[in-house]
Amino acid sequence: MKILAVAGSNSETSINKLLVSYAASLIENAEVEIVDMNDFEMPIYKHQREVESGVPQEAKNFAEKIDAADLLLISLSEHNGTYSTAFKNVFDWTSRIKDRAVWNEKPMLLMATAPGARGGLGVLEAATKRFPLHGGNIVETFTLPFFNDNFDKEAGKISNEEKDSELKEKIQKISAVESILEK
Ligand SMILES: Cc1cc2nc3c(=O)[nH]c(=O)nc-3n(C[C@H](O)[C@H](O)[C@H](O)COP(=O)(O)O)c2cc1C
Repeated sequence: MKILAVAGSNSETSINKLLVSYAASLIENAEVEIVDMNDFEMPIYKHQREVESGVPQEAKNFAEKIDAADLLLISLSEHNGTYSTAFKNVFDWTSRIKDRAVWNEKPMLLMATAPGARGGLGVLEAATKRFPLHGGNIVETFTLPFFNDNFDKEAGKISNEEKDSELKEKIQKISAVESILEK
């Protein structure tokens, strides 16, 4: 099984990258690729840029990785209640590639975390509403509030037992969906 783990952040110290990496580590016998928005840095979407030069190669690379994956694990950082600019830019450009939906109906575990009490719920809600319009097949969602209290950075895992069990259950569910699809 090929897993694409996506951190919707361009921070070099992204907490969402830590979370999505941990989630990916919970799936056995998988080939995992972890990416963040620095891997697809390109000019901000502009209509004239698209007319003049088309969709940048970086967005096409992102789409190729989605197409090659069996399962998507995505964790989005929240800026002012919604997507980070870095993620939104990649999303916008990728949505301009003709004849394909951004998420290509791949089973997805959609997550968010933040240092605050809501754990990125704002961006999670925005994405939950929007992604299905772009071929998003959201099987489960997960938020981790109070990241600094609930995640052990040194161990690279969730330290809050309740939240850890919740994530593991959701990972099991999405892995089962994927193995059904494989048959
Ligand atoms: C411009 C900006 C806006 C932010 N807005 C929110 C917010 O609306 N809600 C929230 O919970 N955290 C907010 N934060 C804090 C981020 O959740 C925090 O920086 C987190 O580390 C981002 O995830 P990342 O490290 O994966 O990029 C904001 C941070 C920045 C820099």
